[in-house]
Amino acid sequence: MAEPKFIRIENESKKETYHRLHTEIMSVLDGEKHNIARMATISCMLHHAFENRIWTGFYLVDIAKPEELVVGPYQGSLGCMRIPFGRGVCGAAAQSGKMQLVKNVHDFEGHIACDANSVSEIVVPVRNPAGKLIAVLDIDSDVEAHFDEVDVHELERLVTDVFG
Ligand code: SME
Repeated sequence: MAEPKFIRIENESKKETYHRLHTEIMSVLDGEKHNIARMATISCMLHHAFENRIWTGFYLVDIAKPEELVVGPYQGSLGCMRIPFGRGVCGAAAQSGKMQLVKNVHDFEGHIACDANSVSEIVVPVRNPAGKLIAVLDIDSDVEAHFDEVDVHELERLVTDVFG
């Protein structure tokens, strides 16, 4: 069976797509409090709304091992199971608590190549209402410099509105 496809409006800018998606995601998640259900839904909707994205998903802070990320809901190719804080792009985001925008992963020391086709990435820390880091949202592309300030702004807005 073909993968689900979301409606792509012709001539819609990336910012407009994010704005439309934001409304759609908030509507689909309305009343749903379970974080795994929220993350699974966001991964699916974000992944299928844009081209050239090979992995979209969440790494969760492991409650049993607080300095380690464990893979959560995602769409795309097979992801690494665990990432220690400080390793790779996701580990850097988790350790620093800061969003990571990497235009070419080959220039990023310690990048973890779960998928050899990955070229650029964005990783956004996800915090709960108390401000505690609970996960990171990782999106990988097979195109160089796929992500920019629009992705930064819109993804931060999305994770804050859903999980913050
Ligand atoms: N590329 C990531 C690892 C996760 S995956 O590629 C799904 C990183 O360096 O953090």
